[in-house]
Amino acid sequence: MASLFKSILLFIIAMLAVSSALAAKVCDTKSFSAQGLDMTQFAYCDKSLGYRIRAKNLVDTMTIEEKVKQLGNQAPGVRRLGIPAYNWWSEILHGVSDVGGGSNFNGPVPGATSFPTPITTTAAFNQDLWHKIGKAASTEARAMNNLGVAGLTFWSPVINVVRDPRWGRTLETSGEDPFVNGVYAVNYVRGLQDVEGSENVKDPNSRDLKVAACCKHYAAYDIDQWVTYGGAVWDRFHYNSNVTEQDMAETFLRPFEMCVKEGDVSSVMCSYNRVNGIPTCADSRLLSGTIRGDWNLHGYIVSDCDSIEVMMDAHKFNDDAPEDAVAQVLQAGLDMDCGSFYPNYLQSALDKGLIKESDIDKALINTYVVLMRLGWFDGHKLFDSLGAKDVCSKEHIDLATDAARQGMVLLANAVNEANHLPLDPKKHKEIAVVGPHGEATAAMLGNYAGKPCGFVTPVDGLKKYGANIVYETGCGDVHCRNTTFIWPAVRAARKADATVIITGLNLDIEAEGNDRVDLELPGYQNLMIRMVAAEAKGPVILVILSAGGVNIAEFTESPNISAILWAGYPGQQGGQAIADVIYGKYNPAGRVPVTWFEGDYVWKLPMTSMPLRPIDELGYPGRTYKFFNGSTIYPFGHGLSYTNFSYKLISNQRSITKKLAINQHCQQLHYNSSAYIPPCHSALADDLKCDKDDITIQVAVTNTGTMDGDDVVMLYSSAPHGIIDAPIKQLVGFQRVFVPAGKTVNATFSLKSCTALSIVTSSAYIVVPSGEHTFSVGSEPDQPNYLHFPFQVYIN
Ligand SMILES: *[C@@H]1O[C@H](CO)[C@@H](O)[C@H](O)[C@H]1NC(C)=O
Ligand SMILES: *[C@@H]1O[C@H](CO)[C@@H](O)[C@H](O)[C@H]1NC(C)=O
Ligand SMILES: *[C@@H]1O[C@H](CO)[C@@H](O)[C@H](O)[C@H]1NC(C)=O
Ligand SMILES: *[C@@H]1O[C@H](CO)[C@@H](O)[C@H](O)[C@H]1NC(C)=O
Ligand SMILES: *[C@@H]1O[C@H](CO)[C@@H](O)[C@H](O)[C@H]1NC(C)=O
Ligand SMILES: *[C@@H]1O[C@H](CO)[C@@H](O)[C@H](O)[C@H]1NC(C)=O
Ligand SMILES: *[C@@H]1O[C@H](CO)[C@@H](O)[C@H](O)[C@H]1NC(C)=O
Repeated sequence: MASLFKSILLFIIAMLAVSSALAAKVCDTKSFSAQGLDMTQFAYCDKSLGYRIRAKNLVDTMTIEEKVKQLGNQAPGVRRLGIPAYNWWSEILHGVSDVGGGSNFNGPVPGATSFPTPITTTAAFNQDLWHKIGKAASTEARAMNNLGVAGLTFWSPVINVVRDPRWGRTLETSGEDPFVNGVYAVNYVRGLQDVEGSENVKDPNSRDLKVAACCKHYAAYDIDQWVTYGGAVWDRFHYNSNVTEQDMAETFLRPFEMCVKEGDVSSVMCSYNRVNGIPTCADSRLLSGTIRGDWNLHGYIVSDCDSIEVMMDAHKFNDDAPEDAVAQVLQAGLDMDCGSFYPNYLQSALDKGLIKESDIDKALINTYVVLMRLGWFDGHKLFDSLGAKDVCSKEHIDLATDAARQGMVLLANAVNEANHLPLDPKKHKEIAVVGPHGEATAAMLGNYAGKPCGFVTPVDGLKKYGANIVYETGCGDVHCRNTTFIWPAVRAARKADATVIITGLNLDIEAEGNDRVDLELPGYQNLMIRMVAAEAKGPVILVILSAGGVNIAEFTESPNISAILWAGYPGQQGGQAIADVIYGKYNPAGRVPVTWFEGDYVWKLPMTSMPLRPIDELGYPGRTYKFFNGSTIYPFGHGLSYTNFSYKLISNQRSITKKLAINQHCQQLHYNSSAYIPPCHSALADDLKCDKDDITIQVAVTNTGTMDGDDVVMLYSSAPHGIIDAPIKQLVGFQRVFVPAGKTVNATFSLKSCTALSIVTSSAYIVVPSGEHTFSVGSEPDQPNYLHFPFQVYIN
């Protein structure tokens, strides 16, 4: 009894705490007078002043003790100045999440729309979709903020390239291509942040924000915890990324540069690892120099959580005392500490003379300006009316379904001509669903998930088509450690009109802090698939849930498998999308955003080898489609449709001429012995005037089949033959277009020669080579619709 009373009391106290955070609008006369304060005394609430001036005023009125406490993610606020507590750490990787503590589902909002994981959404190759999801997720965030259960600063998206197929965090990213990660970042960030009407205000530091996004983890961070065959452990807290300037400019920094310059993101997070010996958060060249200097960030730089501690305890960087460590990162340009080192040690660092108070002020002002832009001080009329009805709305759940459908990748079909997708709901009524993901729920959400509004499992989805389902797990779980459940699955497949095997990986196999050992399906999964497929009466559809590629070489050409579908981790509506594709209500058009390497790829090079280019002396193959020339299970960009598309080039621009000024010089390149060498090898991209798009490519896309559908038109460029070290090809544009059966639509690409035709030299110069480049449309040269054509660059 007593304890029941106590827990009710605790509940009431908790509810009070929640409601006191309600509608956190700092500059509100009522809340000031409720605290016995007079708002007119505080110039930081004077709306006639600019944000920087107001922020400076606020900081100037604080004591040093008060200041340092606000620079950890759990800022306690300053009562005497009317500043409430604020937790900076919220996440919105694919919908509002409760990771971090800044947002929660314990109060009036029990769940939020859980969109597909970014790797799945990326597979849709639809910029407009990425923007829409950002917009919907931020509407839910803003609604939750009004109800006092969410923050306004979200530490998403993750835009590290998937350099190695073993990386555990692949599901959080947009795959292996830096350009795709960058385009995703720009669209998702703008969807999250932009307030209609103020996207392009003159002073970016006063531009309104809907919520604040954060591009992470900067930079060259892509090892989590990799255990070698011999048992050695490499983890992100100790890892030193040895990277060349070339790889830095070309691969590791590029998505971040796009995120800051084109997305105008309001925050960047530095990572746990070192880059060439220096912890990223302590590297002033990377932070103040590049992010703030070269890219002109309007916002704040935050550390990954407890990075400063990691720098001391794991990296043992310079055998620092805590005061040295905080001094170093503050001076490098780190504004906010996710952790407690800033609050605990900045004051003593100041006392020791290691930093100046003005360094602290600068960091604080950077953070408060972002809160002002968010309306934390003044509120925001446009969003004030949002509430619980705007979270998990039908519109948002439909968008989650659509996103999952668009992300589905048909890897193989009609291997056995007679039995292929889509299934016919009239003919294929008795369905055996087999595999540990048949009734997947949480597995579809991946990580950094909140609480979803609900689930449609694959079995639920198929049932909606009137199918009679017999479900057998085939394996106890994804580890599939024994063969106990295989026979019941085989028996079910023998009787069914069609068999859908739904299997793959989950967070036990690939996750933050957990890199993969190999590219195989775990345990006895292969055996299970093989046995079920051999005995099945009807067509067998293999559906894989995973982020990274899986070695399914055995099944790609098997006569016993009719079709293979990659579903990624498709979010709360995943099962609906899988069923819609299987029954042909939706014609798939997703493309794999990572190369599906053959199984032995990972035995050829360690995860710790950072270079993207092959290292012939060590026998290491190149990384990603840009530098790996070997055979694959499925190449980057692979994905089929239920119809066929053909391409025809209709634009007629075949060359471009760029002029160098008198004081500008041609840049030398290295060529192989059989190459044609032009007189002027190349020019610095910065020297060529590229303010405007100077290349137009238009492609007519014809749907030559009998079913309406989307096509993802992917445009690649390759530098002239024989330039040593140039990528095999690089993606420079993509568009998802809808083409009705028998019809043609035009896809138009407007490009800048300085980015679309540039390469990065070994000295990290970005140059445009002269000579004959090649554009190609489509990912696979052996496909009948593959289109390629030469494009001349003249430099004089
Ligand atoms: C990076 O380079 C340093 C210095 O040469 C070396 O000690 C370290 O082992 C290298 N790290 C990796 C992961 O190879
Ligand atoms: C097979 O694994 C499952 C768990 O995945 C377990 O419950 C079962 O007892 C195992 N069977 C045998 C025969 O070991
Ligand atoms: C396909 O199934 C048949 C039995 O139906 C079996 O004999 C054959 O080995 C299977 N093929 C493969 C590649 O698994
Ligand atoms: C592929 O790359 C490897 C590694 O650099 C190289 O040795 C080989 O010659 C290349 N093969 C082709 C066909 O270009
Ligand atoms: C697509 O074209 C290929 C080759 O021309 C043909 O075999 C196939 O049946 C076509 N598929 C569809 C769905 O039209
Ligand atoms: C050199 O470049 C030519 C094309 O100009 C290419 O065919 C050849 O494979 C290259 N040779 C080497 C050794 O890379
Ligand atoms: C595509 O472009 C061509 C050439 O400019 C034009 O003739 C044609 O009408 C366009 N088609 C569509 C569907 O817009």
